[in-house]
Amino acid sequence: MADEKWSKETFENGYTSGKVIGEPETDNSEWEVRRLEQGKLGGDLEEFFTQGVAPLLSPDYRIVELGPGRGSWTRALFSVITQGEIHTIDLQDIRPWVGDLISKHPNRLFINQVNIGEKQYECLAENYFDGFFSFGVFCHMNLTAIEEFLITLRKKLKKKAICIAQYSDWEKGLKYCETSPGNQYNENAFNILFSKYKFEFEMLRARSPMEKLHILIKKRLQSKYPEPEISSNQCFWVRNDKKTMGKLLKNAGYRIIKIDMGFFKRDSVAIFEPR
Ligand SMILES: C[S@@+](CC[C@H](N)C(=O)[O-])C[C@H]1O[C@@H](n2cnc3c(N)ncnc32)[C@H](O)[C@@H]1O
Repeated sequence: MADEKWSKETFENGYTSGKVIGEPETDNSEWEVRRLEQGKLGGDLEEFFTQGVAPLLSPDYRIVELGPGRGSWTRALFSVITQGEIHTIDLQDIRPWVGDLISKHPNRLFINQVNIGEKQYECLAENYFDGFFSFGVFCHMNLTAIEEFLITLRKKLKKKAICIAQYSDWEKGLKYCETSPGNQYNENAFNILFSKYKFEFEMLRARSPMEKLHILIKKRLQSKYPEPEISSNQCFWVRNDKKTMGKLLKNAGYRIIKIDMGFFKRDSVAIFEPR
């Protein structure tokens, strides 16, 4: 499954979700990126931010953002964090992509590039942050890596800090990507998953315990499914769902406020706080 090396290579030119809130300022390409992202996710990015995220934040909060890429969500966060600080951590050097933010907020934006295998995040002060935000990152991290990251993050957060994180949800993703328009927007990505995880997807598709049993027996009789044709490091959508994420958050020492905010048809976004 996906890992940090894969992420570092795949996103080396920076990833953007477009201008996620407000009118685009430059040209139609910003709209186009946002329209495509919204189609992939099955939800409205601006609605998610203005109705879901913004009300949870205060202007003076200090926020950690994991994996900002080209800064789509960092720009949205600054529209609310008008007095506080945003500290970003990314495997890439994001400076060339967020020059506008560096100029606008020289004393309130702190950019940290981290190495593959980073464990301690010493660039972040302990017991300092009021919030954590991440979009498009946990879906590319192995579950053990998410758990380790969250355990370290906990030390950096104040008690009652608010955390918002998008993650991959195979159950939702499968449903969304089997019908239109989800399948049109996610065709390549999900074709890779469907071929690599045939058994897992058959199990998710099964409507009754009998059907599940039948698939298990078939698997047993065949002893195993044919080897996937693609290499494992190409598979980017980590197997996660609400139940697994719930367990992981509890193990890492968090209290779940909402396991899915419900804004997107493909992915889930959890709200949680340190226990
Ligand atoms: C798909 S992009 C998302 C960018 C942005 N958040 C968005 O939604 O438009 C993922 C970003 O997370 C970064 N990333 C992935 N895994 C990471 C890790 N373990 N630690 C730090 N950054 C990571 C990548 O370098 C990349 O910039």
